[in-house]
Amino acid sequence: MKIAMVGSGYVGLVSGACFADFGHDVVCIDKDQSKIDALHDGIMPIYEPGLDALVETNVASGRLSFTTNLAEGIKGASAIFIAVGTPSRRGDGHADLSFVHAVAREVGETLSNDAVIVTKSTVPVGTGDEVERILQSSGTPHKFSVVSNPEFLREGAAIGDFKRPDRIVIGAEDDFGRDVMRAVYRPLFLNESPLLITSRRSSELIKYAANAFLATKITFINEMADLCEKVGANVQDVSRGIGMDNRIGSKFLHAGPGYGGSCFPKDTLALLKTAEDYDSPIRIVEAVVKTNESRKRAMGRKVIEALGGSDAARGKKVALLGLTFKPNTDDMRDSPAIAIAQTLTDGGVSVSAYDPEGMELARPIMPEVTMCQDPYSAIEGADAIAIVTEWDAFRALDLARVKELAKSPVLVDLRNIYQPDDVRSFGFTYHSIGRA
Ligand code: UDX
Repeated sequence: MKIAMVGSGYVGLVSGACFADFGHDVVCIDKDQSKIDALHDGIMPIYEPGLDALVETNVASGRLSFTTNLAEGIKGASAIFIAVGTPSRRGDGHADLSFVHAVAREVGETLSNDAVIVTKSTVPVGTGDEVERILQSSGTPHKFSVVSNPEFLREGAAIGDFKRPDRIVIGAEDDFGRDVMRAVYRPLFLNESPLLITSRRSSELIKYAANAFLATKITFINEMADLCEKVGANVQDVSRGIGMDNRIGSKFLHAGPGYGGSCFPKDTLALLKTAEDYDSPIRIVEAVVKTNESRKRAMGRKVIEALGGSDAARGKKVALLGLTFKPNTDDMRDSPAIAIAQTLTDGGVSVSAYDPEGMELARPIMPEVTMCQDPYSAIEGADAIAIVTEWDAFRALDLARVKELAKSPVLVDLRNIYQPDDVRSFGFTYHSIGRA
């Protein structure tokens, strides 16, 4: 089957390469000439483990190609995926659908065969209806069906998530849409990945509900962690204790500095906008958004406390280990590190940092931070070290060397990757999350 993927960003590229790997014939389309040129040269626009090799094999086998020409790219495709960005609209938090609508218009004008148009971009409820209206108004003579098929890919684990999904959600309104989508996902379906077929609107909402629920779970355990610190309990034990209840589940219960990334912050806001539009408030998600936002700066204040409070902190130096919103990505979007660094510099603290992949993107966002070549050079002369992202490279630091290099042995572990007793045995003052 021929598949066209309009938008060769994170989602489009991973999905396109995986579909090609299943044996489909895939064309990835993007307006950005430099991105397409780079892809032709085997250079990935994002850092995602395994993606370059997957792209290389499938390009070599002739099943995956790239173009900027949408009309050419969609020719003969039975399924045309829209995988363009839906950023938060400046000012109001609504998802900006202008890219999705523009693609729908261009597809309508250039369609040369019957096809199913699939929105993979995360789009608010009712967007499928609007895409359908746009296609209808183009006057295309070809049969089409508009389907919703949200992605649930985690950055850093996206290929595994695509190939071994917990579920595939398809929102379709007719048999044409359902049948083509079953054929698209047949390789996974044969592998017994559950296929959930719903109405288009339910499918659109599932994506937002899933992300809002996960964001709630994280925020819940983060607030529990704060309480643990006050009452002398251990949040990791509390997490385990509640997670062993199958109804709760153990995942997404790691307390930390707050969630970030390209999805949770933007999607929770967009869900609240939809709720507002339909006069159906989701107060729990409103609280999640506010709590997570204030948590990031609170983490900066936690580091200042570890330096002895705001007066003592002025003029001191902190080393941040990890800047990306989570490990195995170079993505800095809404990373807690940004607010933490800002809070520190606002408090007169100088900040050095090291991140295995994120420094290039971090540099323009946090110009006041000195980027270093490795964790140890960031730590040199620091009055405190804060672990912000749980990269594997920080899990087994040479603590004796760290102690020697740092001015004072103060470690603030915002991801709980160390055992308090181990760290203290090296003579550190150790602060973590939710562990008295
Ligand atoms: C998320 C969803 O998991 C994915 O299904 C969706 O399609 C896109 O959004 P992603 O943004 O890549 O994926 O990251 P994820 O691994 O979910 O983590 C999001 C944030 O939550 C990170 O900042 C992470 O550090 C934080 N987090 C996650 C926690 O603080 N605690 C946890 O237990 C889990």
